[in-house]
Formats: sequence, structure tokens, C-alpha cells
Amino acid sequence: MFSNMPRTQPILQWLSLFILVELCLPSHGDVGTAAQYDPPYIPAACYGSDPSQFPSSNLFAAVGDGIWDNGASCGRQYLVRCISATAPETCVVDQTVQIRVVDYVPTAASNPSAGGTTIVLSKTAFGAIANSSAASINIEFQQV
Ligand SMILES: *[C@@H]1O[C@H](CO)[C@@H](O)[C@H](O)[C@H]1NC(C)=O
Repeated sequence: MFSNMPRTQPILQWLSLFILVELCLPSHGDVGTAAQYDPPYIPAACYGSDPSQFPSSNLFAAVGDGIWDNGASCGRQYLVRCISATAPETCVVDQTVQIRVVDYVPTAASNPSAGGTTIVLSKTAFGAIANSSAASINIEFQQV
């Protein structure tokens, strides 16, 4: 009884399924890389040495040119998730952190664990989503 169905039908069905899944997935973030940095965290490019710039959770970050936006990114919050790394099992599965932008990587008070990454996470933020002995990880991130 299905012999009269057009041959394109299965393709259309797969396409609709794909679109449906895309629409239902919780995140549509960008993909990038992240390193980590140690104290000293001040002075930082956004708010100088003001201690109140750091959330009590210690989840904050310095950002590179791709996000910095001439300083407009200061105070913005991002959700960051580890998606992969060079060494297997580096990422903490299904763990996302919400970080606050407080600094600009090229002028940060301490050096990042790896150069040229999209974002440099505080030690606490990095350790929450990945093995803290890793120098850099691949991330998915999304502005809140
Ligand atoms: C983190 O990575 C290091 C170096 O690769 C490894 O020795 C250690 O076992 C890892 N720690 C965890 C908790 O997986």
C-alpha cells in the first residue's frame, strides 16, 4: 500500500527529524578553546583591583579578542562546557559553569596555561569542568 509514496519521503522525514532535534536541544553555543590562569588575578582590565568584581563562587574568566569587544564584554556571563581535549577523559561529563568576564587575556596579571585560546578560565572554573592538569580544552560557550 506504500508503493505510491514518492521516493523523497524518507529524506523529508529525516530532515524534519533533524530540524526538530535542533530546535529542541538546550544549547546552541559557539565552539572555542579554553586555558586556565592562576592568581594574581588583579589588577584586571575590567574593574582594576576592586575585590567585589569576583563572584564568591570564583567562577570568572579573562577573554581573548574574539569575545573582548573592546571591553563591552566586561561583566557578561557565559555558560561554558568542556567538549573534548587532547588527553581522553579530560572533560567532566555534562558539567557546565557560568562565568563572569573580568579581564582581557593580553593584559592579564598572570599568564594563561596555553596561548591563543578563546577564553582563560579561573582555576576554579577550569577545574569544575575539566581535569585541572590539562593546559587547554575545547569548549562550547554561550552568553547568558
Ligand atoms: C588528570 O590528568 C593527569 C595527567 O594526564 C592524570 O595523571 C590524572 O589521573 C587525571 N586526573 C583525573 C581525576 O582524571
